[in-house]
Amino acid sequence: MTLVTDLTSRKAATEAPLIDPLAERWSPRAFDPEAVVESEQLRTILEAARWAPSANNSQPWRFIVARRGTAAFASLHGAMAGFNKEWADSAAVLIVNIAETVDAEGRPRPWARYDLGQAVAHLTVQAQHEGLHTHQMGGFDAQAIHEAFGLDERHEVVSITTIGALGDVDRLSDVLREREVAPRQRKPLADFVTVGE
Ligand SMILES: Cc1cc2nc3c(=O)[nH]c(=O)nc-3n(C[C@H](O)[C@H](O)[C@H](O)COP(=O)(O)O)c2cc1C
Repeated sequence: MTLVTDLTSRKAATEAPLIDPLAERWSPRAFDPEAVVESEQLRTILEAARWAPSANNSQPWRFIVARRGTAAFASLHGAMAGFNKEWADSAAVLIVNIAETVDAEGRPRPWARYDLGQAVAHLTVQAQHEGLHTHQMGGFDAQAIHEAFGLDERHEVVSITTIGALGDVDRLSDVLREREVAPRQRKPLADFVTVGE
């Protein structure tokens, strides 16, 4: 059965107004397997990460960028968990998000993962503004990627961001298609915000 849904409009039903790239961002699995992210667009997306805030301006993030069709992309795809392997091969670009958890002098960086997360958030919002979509994932063999790319022990592979253009939802398996069109949900603000008095 084909579910007819306009996937270009999965805008969040927000409790308060948001800027468009935030309200319109969602994480698709149906990417266009032909789409290419232009180099300038990719540079802009990474520039957004560059200007994220970080503890002591330490900028403890590193990114490995792999375009579809490269050996690096194939290596990353090979390290993904099965449920991610199924859809992520049609993304145009994979970005490995790496935290530098220890500085060059051996001092721990307790906020490295937090800072990396902020940089990735910036990147996803900029990508959305560029008319692209992102989907982050934690389901992969981090050790395999660590070894494949010759990272040292100061670096931790935390997540992967897929980037691309929206594709045909009917190319997904039934299970993934159902998830792709399921209503988007969030806890109400009141569930996780405490206003001090
Ligand atoms: C750190 C992190 C890990 C995630 N891991 C996966 C994953 O392995 N596979 C997947 O399909 N989605 C993954 N997601 C996507 C989330 O499931 C998704 O962001 C969440 O359901 C909210 O949906 P939305 O991004 O469309 O608003 C991950 C997201 C984050 C931030």
